[in-house]
Amino acid sequence: MRKVNIPPDYEAKKAFFLIHPESRLDYKTLFHNDNPVHLEIGCGKGEFISTMPVLHPEINFLGIEMKLKRIIIILKRLWIDTHPNVRLLQLYVDEKVTEVIPEGSLDKIYIQHPDPWPKRRHNKNRLIQQPFLDALHKMLKVGATVELSTDHPDYAEWIVEEFAKRRDFEPIFPDGYTQESPYREEHITTFFEKVNAEAGFKPYFMHYKKL
Ligand SMILES: C[S@@+](CC[C@H](N)C(=O)[O-])C[C@H]1O[C@@H](n2cnc3c(N)ncnc32)[C@H](O)[C@@H]1O
Repeated sequence: MRKVNIPPDYEAKKAFFLIHPESRLDYKTLFHNDNPVHLEIGCGKGEFISTMPVLHPEINFLGIEMKLKRIIIILKRLWIDTHPNVRLLQLYVDEKVTEVIPEGSLDKIYIQHPDPWPKRRHNKNRLIQQPFLDALHKMLKVGATVELSTDHPDYAEWIVEEFAKRRDFEPIFPDGYTQESPYREEHITTFFEKVNAEAGFKPYFMHYKKL
């Protein structure tokens, strides 16, 4: 197993950024303000969750990542004075995420390059399934959106099909996805997007609004 070096300021950063909720989050207590809250699921090595909050200090950002090693890597990119609007949770996300995230509380959810589980017999492990879409719907405010991306054509098609089964989300892109990149200003290239782009893959971007 590869070792992850623990930085000297790890404990201080961990105490500030890493939260351990035992019930639904109270954002006011957490961030000490009433600003909108955006959630990133599967932060990986933290390119997005360390960059976007600096561009948008008027927004609070929650990042969820299941792997401790990745949380340690993300913490290396965060500083208490430059990222006061960021908090992290180490959590395996499934539909039970609504036990932590309050209903109708989020202005945006980002899910970038979720694990594609490419083998057919592993498809059942994919994050984007109907019970999880119910959870996404529950967490978002009406009119708020979820942005997703993947480099995997089969997973892109799967995501578009799963959302197409619903009447409570509206696709922002008429075909369900775009491969135009960047598809919006402030696009932050994540680690997986970069690696896959170098291997010749073109990401699919999907964007849905809660009705
Ligand atoms: C393929 S990586 C993509 C990371 C990052 N979003 C990027 O684009 O570089 C998927 C990440 O999501 C995390 N992850 C996968 N399934 C998860 C789940 N159910 N709950 C929380 N994190 C998850 C993995 O540990 C990994 O860091």
